[in-house]
Amino acid sequence: MSLSRMTSFGYCILVVLGLIVSESVLCNGGVTSSFVRKVEKTIDMPLDSDVFSVPPGHNTPQQVHITQGDHVGKAVIVSWVTMDEPGSSTVVYWSEKSKQKYKASGKVTTYTYYNYTSGYIHHCNIKNLKFDTKYYYKIGIGRVSRTFWFTTPPEVGPDVPYTFGLIGDLGQSFDSNKTLTHYELNPIKGQAVLFVGDLSYADNYPNHDNVRWDTWGRFVERSTAYQPWIWTAGNHELDFAPEIGETKPFKPYTHRYHVPFRASDSTSPLWYSIKRASAYIIVLSSYSAYGKYTPQYKWLEEELPKVNRTETPWLIVLVHSPWYNSYNYHYMEGETMRVMYEPWFVQYKVDMVFAGHVHAYERTERISNVAYNVVNGECSPIKDQSAPIYVTIGDGGNLEGLATNMTEPQPAYSAFREASFGHATLAIKNRTHAYYSWHRNQDGYAVEADKIWVNNRVWHPVDESTAAKS
Ligand SMILES: [Fe+2]
Repeated sequence: MSLSRMTSFGYCILVVLGLIVSESVLCNGGVTSSFVRKVEKTIDMPLDSDVFSVPPGHNTPQQVHITQGDHVGKAVIVSWVTMDEPGSSTVVYWSEKSKQKYKASGKVTTYTYYNYTSGYIHHCNIKNLKFDTKYYYKIGIGRVSRTFWFTTPPEVGPDVPYTFGLIGDLGQSFDSNKTLTHYELNPIKGQAVLFVGDLSYADNYPNHDNVRWDTWGRFVERSTAYQPWIWTAGNHELDFAPEIGETKPFKPYTHRYHVPFRASDSTSPLWYSIKRASAYIIVLSSYSAYGKYTPQYKWLEEELPKVNRTETPWLIVLVHSPWYNSYNYHYMEGETMRVMYEPWFVQYKVDMVFAGHVHAYERTERISNVAYNVVNGECSPIKDQSAPIYVTIGDGGNLEGLATNMTEPQPAYSAFREASFGHATLAIKNRTHAYYSWHRNQDGYAVEADKIWVNNRVWHPVDESTAAKS
């Protein structure tokens, strides 16, 4: 081999070696899914869509939805709207096991928003229910009454299995409808939905057209009337529009969606907690003050030590704006809240944090970034087995479309990411294990596009990451 050929051969080897080295450096993150999605515009379903149809009859109850009504799962808040007149706020209910009928009295409210006047919004908290029991409930009067049913959760306890659905940023587009259908037809049957904020996207319409809050309520009724949705407020719930004289944040949302915040000693419906089966769910507000001394800070500071992991092993947090997000959308919007609260999440060994806001899917490794103290320069996330897994599930399918642009290279903390619409489920099996899976809308109902057995941080704090197994 001539010198020049040897030199060029050596150069080639160097180039190949260089490529291998740079590839290994660049690919230090997890999986960026190679799934190729058909690119289509995400548009809202028109007002005359069947999913928005008004139930027939004068003043028939519509937009029926339920949520947990106390701290432990023995109460249910039933909410609905009547359009023509106040009508009755009473709920008649009975257990599947008994013919005895009971009545609970609710309250009715209305609100105005610019040139919109709401229908009559009813909220009725049914209390002292039996655990693990199917109840029927009837709302409305006479021929226009409607009957639905729900099942109360089992009594709170450490090894009680329970399956949650996870949906975020749903909106009311054709894709939103696919997401809800996939959740309903998923063979992993969710018993309650943890909703991570951004409900109707009515604020994307001129003057925040609140008619789109009504259509959304009718669209999701097929699920929300039968199983509780645990609500988190997102930025699209703010409806803050001083240009049209609407300066009270969260006005439509807080009139329409009641939550049991007083049962957890909260002073605001925007942050609260519930226990359900073996889970302790803490809901936070990205769009309320959370700095030191604020009501939310003080509440969370007193709330976290109350969580008894012997009673509820699974500690789950819902918040709208993600703290760890490697898409080029809403990048670092959750950063200030992370700085405030992440040390507590590590100290109290939160199992999982679910967020929305970014219209895509992402799951992280267990990581924390709490060492930074201004002068030490330690500001990168590190693997931390006391830290939660962070999931961004803002892929419900709203009209704003998908977040497709990712930061490159994929950060090491990001275990899996994909820009597709979908939903997830979290099936808690006992105090040590829960099965988590993500389901994209393009697949069959049973397909799990991402999945992981989650190990409880108190009872089985073993590294469950894909990296640990390989
Ligand atoms: Fe959002």
